[in-house]
Amino acid sequence: MEMLGLYPVWFEPTLGSGWIIGIIATIHVLFSHTSVGAALVFSYLAVVAYRKNRPELLDYIRRYGLFLLVFSYVLGSITGPGIWLSTTVGSPRGISALIHSFVWKWATEWVFFVIEVIGVYMIVYLVNKVDQKTHLRISIIFGLASYTTMLIIIGILSFMLMPGNENWYTEGGYLNGFYGANTFAQLAMRTAFMFTMTAVVGGIVASSIKDIDFRKEMVRRLAILGLVATAAGLGLFKWYLSTIPATAELVMENRLPEYFTPALISVMGGIMAYFAATLAAPKLLKPAIAGVMTVVILVFGLWPEEVARESIRKPYVAGGYVYSNQVIGRDVPGLGIHSEIPTIEEHGFTNALIFLPEELRTVTDSNKEAVGQALALNTCSNCHSLTDTGIRPLANYFGDDSSESDIAAYLRAALSSGTTLYMPQIPLQQDEAVALASFIRQLKDQSIAVAADQGNPITVSQSH
Ligand code: HEC
Repeated sequence: MEMLGLYPVWFEPTLGSGWIIGIIATIHVLFSHTSVGAALVFSYLAVVAYRKNRPELLDYIRRYGLFLLVFSYVLGSITGPGIWLSTTVGSPRGISALIHSFVWKWATEWVFFVIEVIGVYMIVYLVNKVDQKTHLRISIIFGLASYTTMLIIIGILSFMLMPGNENWYTEGGYLNGFYGANTFAQLAMRTAFMFTMTAVVGGIVASSIKDIDFRKEMVRRLAILGLVATAAGLGLFKWYLSTIPATAELVMENRLPEYFTPALISVMGGIMAYFAATLAAPKLLKPAIAGVMTVVILVFGLWPEEVARESIRKPYVAGGYVYSNQVIGRDVPGLGIHSEIPTIEEHGFTNALIFLPEELRTVTDSNKEAVGQALALNTCSNCHSLTDTGIRPLANYFGDDSSESDIAAYLRAALSSGTTLYMPQIPLQQDEAVALASFIRQLKDQSIAVAADQGNPITVSQSH
C-alpha cells in the first residue's frame, strides 16, 4: 500500500491554524495593496508635478513614501514571510501545489518586489537631489514594478480557487493554470479596492500637511480617488462573482452568514460617506480620523473579504484538487497526480497515515479517544477548531444530547461519501468513525462543562 505522506498537523488550540493564517494574510493585504496603489498614485503625481512645475506634490510623494516605508514595507515584509511560514506549516501540501506550478512566477515576483523596494527608497531620498525628469522616470518604474508584483500574485491567488482553464487538469501547463476569467476579474476588483485603501491611508499623511490650501487640495484629490475606486470596485465585485465556480456560488449563498450582504453594503456605504464628507469638508480630516478609518477597513472590509475568499474555495485549499485537510481529492493526469481517496477507502486513515504513533493504528476501547483525536487533527482541524473558539468549532455542530453512535452514523454517512459540497470526502472505516465520534462526544462534554461553569446556557453558533 502506498502511504499518505501527510505532514504532522500544526495544531493551534485557541483560534485554529486557519484563522492564524487569515489574520496574518489580512494584515498583509492592507499593507501590500496600499503600497501598490500608492506607487501608481505617486507616478501620476510625479507626472503632474513635472508638467505643471509643482514641487509641493513631490514633497507629498516624499512624505507618503516615507510613511509607507514603515507602514507598508517594514510591516509588509514581516507579514509576507509570516504568510509563508504559517501556510507552510498549516497547509504544507497547498503550498507545495502552488510551488510546483508557480515557482518561477514567484521568483519573477520577487525580482519586481526588489525593484519596488529600491524604488521607494529612491523616490523618497532622491527628491531634489536628481533632476525632475530622472525622478519622474524612477517614479514610473516604481509604479509599474509594484503593479507587476500584484499581477503575478493574483494569478496564483486565482489558481488557489481553481485553475484558469479546465484543460490544466489533463494537460498541465503553466498558462492554463494561471490565466482564466477569474484572474482578470479578481485583478480588476482588487485594483479598484487597492485605490480605496491608498486613498484612506494617504489621508493620514495629507491631513497633516501644514499649508492649508495644499492640504485641502490633497484631501480632496484622495476623496475623489476613493469615491471613484470604491464605486468601481463594487461594480467589479459583480463581475468577480460571475467568474467563481458554481459550487462556490452555492457555498456563498448557503454558508455565508445572513448578515454578510447587508454588512458588506453598509461597510461600502460607510466608506463612500467618509470620502464624501472629506470631499465636502477637507479641513475636518485629521490624521487620527484617517487612522481609525484604516483600521475600520482592515476589520470590516478586508477580514470578511479574506474569510469569504477562504470559504468559497472549500473544500479545497488549492487548484481544486488539494483538500483543505491536505488529502489529494482528485486525479490530475496532467501532473501525474492521483487522488488518495481510493487508498483511504481501502485501508483507512489509521493504516495510511505515515505520522501516526504505532499504538494508534488499531482502535481499542482504551485508545479510541486518542485515535479519534488524531483523526480529528488530521482530517478536520484545518477547517474546524477543536476548542470552543476560533474557526467553526467542531463541537458546535453536534447537539448536546447526540450520542456517540448518532455522531458515528453521521460521520459514516455524510462525510465518508462526500455528499456535502463544502467538506472533503473523508472516508472513515467503521471503527475509525466510532473513535472519532467518541472524541467529538468528549469535546462536547467538555464544552458543556465549561459553559455550565460560566453559568451560561450553550448556544449553538454557526461560526465562520
Ligand atoms: C475543507 C474544510 C473542512 C474540513 C476538512 C471539514 N469540514 Fe466540516 N464543515 C466545513 C464547512 C465549510 C462547514 C459549513 C460550516 C457552516 O456553514 O457553519 C462544515 C460543517 C460541518 C458540520 C455541520 C453539518 C453540515 O453537514 O453542514 C459538521 C457536523 C462537520 N462539518 C463535521 C466535520 C468533521 C467531523 C470533520 C472531520 C472529519 C470535518 N467536518 C472536516 C468545512 C470542513
